Amino acid sequence: MTTHDDQKRVLLIGGGSGIGHAVASALLDRGDQPVIGARDPERTAAILSAPLRDVPIVHADLADEATIEALTTAGPFDAVVSLAAASANGPAASFDRAAIHDAFDAKVVGPMLLAKHLTGSMRPGGVFVFSSGVAAWKPAPGLSVMATVNGAVSFMAEALAVELAPVRAVAVSPGIVDSGLWDSMGEDGKRDFFAATAAANPAGRVGTPDDVVAAVLLAVDNTFVTGTTLHVDGGGRLG
Ligand SMILES: NC(=O)c1ccc[n+]([C@@H]2O[C@H](COP(=O)([O-])OP(=O)(O)OC[C@H]3O[C@@H](n4cnc5c(N)ncnc54)[C@H](OP(=O)(O)O)[C@@H]3O)[C@@H](O)[C@H]2O)c1
Repeated sequence: MTTHDDQKRVLLIGGGSGIGHAVASALLDRGDQPVIGARDPERTAAILSAPLRDVPIVHADLADEATIEALTTAGPFDAVVSLAAASANGPAASFDRAAIHDAFDAKVVGPMLLAKHLTGSMRPGGVFVFSSGVAAWKPAPGLSVMATVNGAVSFMAEALAVELAPVRAVAVSPGIVDSGLWDSMGEDGKRDFFAATAAANPAGRVGTPDDVVAAVLLAVDNTFVTGTTLHVDGGGRLG
């Protein structure tokens, strides 16, 4: 771990797995102070890799406003980063109302409530970083809910950047990233999906968690970046 003078305190929701875990590791490695927000702090503590075991974990469920309001006690923050998601994939004929609500809670409603309760806990230059995703720009059958949710996230970042200024708001939009999210496809299914994605991506590959980490750190550090979406998708939205 390195240390630096302007150590940043960063609340990271979804920091127990995938891209969020990689962001927490990168923050710790450069001497910042990640605080992980998790729905089940005990379960998250049990799965954190060694360097992150001393990072504080606070209870944060983006579908539960009381837990969001209570996060003020963990501040002040330089950044509040939400990398949560709840999947509601499937064809329109099988849309599930509860799953759609969960998807909006995790990426839109919960983050709006983060803005409601935590704007007053932000240090100068502070930023909310929200997680969008390539599905909004590259719709496909079965992904309509996620496409709509991700699109809302990006418009939310623009609206909140204006409303909360000088506190900033930025959306990061990953493409297909090998974060562990796709492991449920099985080894062969994942390999074929990644090969097809890489072939269609102008960048010629799928993403790594570190690709997204770099964009999150840019949003955290660069106080001239607000009200925009940082696309980290290998150009996949265009392919
Ligand atoms: N990986 C990709 O290919 C990809 C592509 C496009 C966009 N993205 C976006 O990038 C972000 C990170 O993706 P990932 O691959 O790292 O996903 P992930 O490993 O599934 O992580 C999602 C995290 O969200 C947390 N979460 C879900 N609902 C929550 C809630 N209501 N309150 C608090 N936490 C909640 C989960 O916590 P629990 O441990 O409690 O379940 C989990 O830690 C997501 O927003 C995702 O939509 C990823």
